[in-house]
Amino acid sequence: MSAAKSQRLLETAHRVMPGGVLGSFTMPEESNVVIDRGFGCLVRDADGREYIDYILGSGPMILGHTHPRVVEAVKDQLDRGTQFYVLNEQAIELADKLVSAIPCAGQVKFTSTGAEATFQALRIARAYTRRDKILRFRGSYHGHHDYGMVGASAGIPAAVNDLVLTADFNDTNGTIAMLERHSADIAAVIVEPIQRATLPAVGFLESLRKVTRALGVLLVFDEIVTGFRLAWGGAQERYGVVPDLATYGKIIGGGLPLAAVAGRADIMEVANPRRRGEQHVYFSGTLNGNPLAASAGLATLAILQESDIYGRIGAVGAQLQSGLRGVAAESDTDMRVLGDPSMIGIAFSPLDDPYDPQTTLGADVRRRATLERELARLGILTNLGAKLYLSSEHQGHHVEATLDAFTKALRAVE
Ligand SMILES: Cc1ncc(COP(=O)(O)O)c(C=O)c1O
Repeated sequence: MSAAKSQRLLETAHRVMPGGVLGSFTMPEESNVVIDRGFGCLVRDADGREYIDYILGSGPMILGHTHPRVVEAVKDQLDRGTQFYVLNEQAIELADKLVSAIPCAGQVKFTSTGAEATFQALRIARAYTRRDKILRFRGSYHGHHDYGMVGASAGIPAAVNDLVLTADFNDTNGTIAMLERHSADIAAVIVEPIQRATLPAVGFLESLRKVTRALGVLLVFDEIVTGFRLAWGGAQERYGVVPDLATYGKIIGGGLPLAAVAGRADIMEVANPRRRGEQHVYFSGTLNGNPLAASAGLATLAILQESDIYGRIGAVGAQLQSGLRGVAAESDTDMRVLGDPSMIGIAFSPLDDPYDPQTTLGADVRRRATLERELARLGILTNLGAKLYLSSEHQGHHVEATLDAFTKALRAVE
């Protein structure tokens, strides 16, 4: 393959898509890539260049790309049909697996994307509580819908502002005060248990649990990133806090479009279309529970359940985190290394508090973009606005190559 291929594809992308991108993640122009294929923790671009991949499809590929057992499961399903709309074995089995794995799950309902899952969880919460408002945290991300993007996107009706209250992550007292003031109107608190790369302070999630229960407000954990990543039982297992509802995506679809709302059976019942006499929450989507994505999810979860992947990712991720802290200390920069070993945050920030969301919210995005560009040039693919995602395929020698690249790339940032 020649460098001309990437160039030609990038030119076409710019001509036919706004900004020449798929979503909102824009690679620096000088190091933009078009991916041709992935294997393990590596991806290869259209010109044949290889990268160690820390984007991992934005998180789903916890087993790395093209894991043989996931590929086999999907190929098998391809021959049997990809989309039926009605019940199929794979969807039922995946739902059963989710209910047994997720602490809060009495029942689940599938969507195709994480944004749909959080949107529907909030609608279920409003129907169940008969209240209209939600409380979320500044700097969180719950997908592209209006409730998730208030204040952060053009095109959102001003009226939505009145329905969304915003508190600060890890500010227990401020959040409780806001909840107590508005509890008669608040249907749900939605929270990422690890908000982007900010860890929950000891007691924060527990306090949310306690106060929401006391006020009749539903607690929704957005586990689209943390689900089946922090542990088999996600953040609920890690932190020992069980919400009323939780949303899942990314890993449960094994890299194909699939997400879900899980929750207490009595709450999920409001989305039961067989309910007579009472209006139910309309919850449907053409591709929801399609057998192709469900087969990829089932294969992924089977591998996660039977092997010590969390131990491996934890060890390699911890090696990368401590190595990066060493590299940062040697450099002439204020690069901070945040998050969890399985999902590592990077921020150039005067603050160095892993529990203060301001460490990332107030960080310098210009130097972050320079670092990202230099890393890509050195064969390390990252989305530093999100996190470095670890997979079971990242090993010690990948970590060493990554630390070497960070050392060199930070010189350009200096
Ligand atoms: C915490 C969280 N919630 C929701 C979403 C939205 O998921 P999707 O991109 O599948 O719509 C994301 C996506 O990155 C996420 O990180």
